[in-house]
Amino acid sequence: MEKYLIRGGAPLSGEITISGAKNAAVAILPATVLARGCCVIENVPCISDVTVLLGILRNLGAKTRYLSANTVEIDTAELDSTVVPYEMARAMRASYYFLGSLLGRCSEASVSMPGGCDFGVRPIDQHIKGFKALGAEVSIDGGMINASVERMVGCHIHFDVVSVGATVNVMMAAVRAKGITILENAAKEPHIVDLANFLNSMGADIRGAGTDVIKIHGVDVLHPSTYSIIPDQIEAGTYMVLAAATRSDLLIKNVIPKHLESIADKLLAAGAQLEEFDDSIRVVGKEKIERVNVKTLPHPGFPTDMQSQISAMLTMAEGTSIVTESVWDGRFKYVDELKRMGANIQVDGKMAVIEGVPSLKGAPVKATDLRAGAALVIAGLMAEGVTEIEGIEYIERGYERIVEKLLGIGADIQRITIPEPAVPKAL
Ligand code: EPU
Repeated sequence: MEKYLIRGGAPLSGEITISGAKNAAVAILPATVLARGCCVIENVPCISDVTVLLGILRNLGAKTRYLSANTVEIDTAELDSTVVPYEMARAMRASYYFLGSLLGRCSEASVSMPGGCDFGVRPIDQHIKGFKALGAEVSIDGGMINASVERMVGCHIHFDVVSVGATVNVMMAAVRAKGITILENAAKEPHIVDLANFLNSMGADIRGAGTDVIKIHGVDVLHPSTYSIIPDQIEAGTYMVLAAATRSDLLIKNVIPKHLESIADKLLAAGAQLEEFDDSIRVVGKEKIERVNVKTLPHPGFPTDMQSQISAMLTMAEGTSIVTESVWDGRFKYVDELKRMGANIQVDGKMAVIEGVPSLKGAPVKATDLRAGAALVIAGLMAEGVTEIEGIEYIERGYERIVEKLLGIGADIQRITIPEPAVPKAL
């Protein structure tokens, strides 16, 4: 079993360079099947979710090749399958993006019900509503989602809830529909805009991405393109919070400051000092962390994917902070782990009441999902003594070279392998 061993309590300093955005990469890689031929995708983060998606692409018949550490060439000229089986889909949620892209390319797709981080019910009704509105027949049978269509036809789709996944999936299918599709109540996250920019670079005609109304003129053919993924908003936000939480001085490079405004606002309110440059941001944490209330919302609100990290910081704020999770039902599972380190947090439904304590103490803890894992890394670096984090495979789904990046700013962190205990043989 792999673990992180962290000795915390000391301030950090230096520079961290942010990688390509996970949630853009996991949409853009499946979108490459919409064109026949070689796409070159740059600034691809080296994380396990990307490895899984490249495996799915190869299983569909595509050829993939790394041109450098973060540049991948994907040749989709020949596809010989439209099926994403359970063994591949269960590893991650974004596997269901092949529904939209394969429908667009091949007019059919069968994708196993997706896995991914577990923080409550994760319905896909809005994806299905969108595909059906475009004319597809969709059924769920034996754990597979099957979609097929003769010819998709553009239409008006009003999403009942703001969903990143449904916006991505339906946008990928609609680029090949006949006529105009209008998506209303669409998600506005930076990765939605990045996907639309990639699709437009392939010849699609998408306008309005980044607002809640997206207009898509369907086209007959998309062509391969070369595209560079935006920097990861959440990775940047995680290191910004780390700086404020550990009273450190960090320059976070290769960011789009506009994407970080809601996070920067909360850190300023918590007393940190921020300095913004064209494509970097400096965060200097202060001795006293002020109490702050946070409510997660779809973009441009405070991102749910930063909720656990800022909560970790607030465990040592002066006074009581209230954190409200309004996107997911079960995203406070990490709280019990923070309590093992001495945090004082009460969860009541979608709300966590965090009573600041003067210090955290290192303890053995377990990551329950990707961002929960990031919160434990922050808490481990805030705490006195040694924190041992288990479940690091979650963290490595989304944070490129996290140990190396933290070592670069002076953190005391090690990735260790603990031999599995020998299982006694049955007599
Ligand atoms: N929802 C529905 N019906 C649907 C789809 C969603 O009711 O058909 C609801 C969900 O239950 C949830 C809300 O809508 O309450 C938002 O879900 P959304 O579809 O936006 O989430 P997602 O696409 O599954 C993406 C990110 C998540 C991030 C959320 C919200 C990717 C691959 N995942 O998930 O990122 O939390 O948007 O911003 O883009 C992460 O990176 O750690 C992560 C979990």
